[in-house]
Amino acid sequence: MPAKKTTARELLFGDLWEFDPAPESAPAHIEPRYGLYIGGKSVAPKSKKYFDSISPRDGKKLSEIPLANAADVDAAYQAAASAFKSWSKLPGAERGKYLFRIARLLQDRSREFAVAETLDGGKPIRESRDFDLPMAAAHFFYHAGWADKLAYVAPGRSLAPLGVVGQVIPWNFPLLMLAWKIAPALATGNTVVIKPAETTSITALKFASILTDAGLPPGVVNIVTGAGETGAAVVNHPLAAKVAFTGSTEVGKIIQRALAGTGKKLTLELGGKAANIVFDDAPLDQAVEGIINGIFFNQGHVCCAGSRLLVQENIAADFLARLKRRIATLRVGDPLDKNTDVGAINSIEQLTKIRELVQSGIDEGAEIHQPTCKLPKNGFYFAPTVFTNVSQSQRIANEEIFGPVLSILTFRTPEEAIEKANNTPFGLSAGVWTDKGSKILMMASRLKAGVVWANTYHKFDPSSPFGGYKESGFGREGGKHGLLDYASLKTQDSR
Ligand code: NAI
Ligand code: MG
Repeated sequence: MPAKKTTARELLFGDLWEFDPAPESAPAHIEPRYGLYIGGKSVAPKSKKYFDSISPRDGKKLSEIPLANAADVDAAYQAAASAFKSWSKLPGAERGKYLFRIARLLQDRSREFAVAETLDGGKPIRESRDFDLPMAAAHFFYHAGWADKLAYVAPGRSLAPLGVVGQVIPWNFPLLMLAWKIAPALATGNTVVIKPAETTSITALKFASILTDAGLPPGVVNIVTGAGETGAAVVNHPLAAKVAFTGSTEVGKIIQRALAGTGKKLTLELGGKAANIVFDDAPLDQAVEGIINGIFFNQGHVCCAGSRLLVQENIAADFLARLKRRIATLRVGDPLDKNTDVGAINSIEQLTKIRELVQSGIDEGAEIHQPTCKLPKNGFYFAPTVFTNVSQSQRIANEEIFGPVLSILTFRTPEEAIEKANNTPFGLSAGVWTDKGSKILMMASRLKAGVVWANTYHKFDPSSPFGGYKESGFGREGGKHGLLDYASLKTQDSR
């Protein structure tokens, strides 16, 4: 009988280091059924229809979400337009106070919101607790600080609000994307109609209670829920002065077509296929951590995920061995468990898409590597996956997989790395790992990506503008640039 093959995980840990379950136990306070948030009140949808929000963790129903139709969306716009009259005239310092209040209330309830986010979306509690919630609060704090300083954003010119803005956000960072959208819009004096994604509406609807507790004037923020049709009603409403969208490139294109010639301002933050480039002079163990974080953070449901590893050919074998050793130690499973590194895939649709793209990789001749890990029986899960033997023509090297799947390509010279990194319709982010500062600067100036991280990855800050090139979209979120996308510039009176 052949000897049992020892896995990397067993070599490192044996069975001794299996942790006991450590589920986060704070209550998420999820209501069995929600209303739309319009004019400062929770209202039943005129459509009279609801849909279920289920937890990808175990496939169980969490709550019933109202399905907003065109009449509901119209009611939200009417409320926002009427609130705009006084909100836009409020002194910046007063608007700032509301934003500070929202930020603090979010901090107060961050544990509850983190659990709700993890239950509804499937991301590990470690991430919702340590990343999504603190960052969402940070965006409100940051923009609260700007509200009374808008005169200093563009010297010699003043910022005027646009009106009602329509915002549609995705399911990968539900509350954080809501914060990215709402905070700059309110700081600059606009009012909002926002639609969260259909698989992750719960934290947005819980957020409505924070707005009420903060005493935000009715109609300044309105939250409508539903799927693509509701989203289309939000972006196409005649009262929308600006549309801000984060999601797939496919829907981004539909929106851009629909808005052409309407005079509405538009910002799009779409997909990506980022190259994370490792040179032979890089600190390899740190780079391994960066690559792991770059692709497995939030199960790879990240527009700026480092989904293509470009590694210099002379260290490729060594690097792959280190990477596989590290991947074998990732804990995949219950997102509510505090020890979990890779949680649940957001939806069955997304799991199906990942499986299909992974199969295409195998069919097109790439070599697949997966650690032996036990996935939970119920819910939607996918093992961390690495592909070698990847060629540039394969789908897994070109299409956004939006899952825990890394495609590895090699290069010999910096020139070749740049060529391969830029050989994509996208241009959202990139990573460079090297010991040489000069190489970092050279690469950063030649990589066509909105963000280039050097010797780190996935670092975010509200003061740092984020956005893409090419099919990754246009417009920036965060920093002064983000404010400018929510305002029109006027020449100041010279007195
Ligand atoms: P999606 O683009 O359909 O969904 C994003 C948001 O747009 C959701 O709120 C959705 O309800 C809304 N929406 C859908 N159709 C719309 C329309 N015609 N008009 C206005 N709003 C509309 O993305 P989906 O289908 O959930 O995911 C498909 C793929 O898109 C993913 O596998 C991933 O590759 C990519 N994606 C990228 C994101 C990013 O952050 N760049 C976020 C979400 C998805
Ligand atoms: Mg879709």
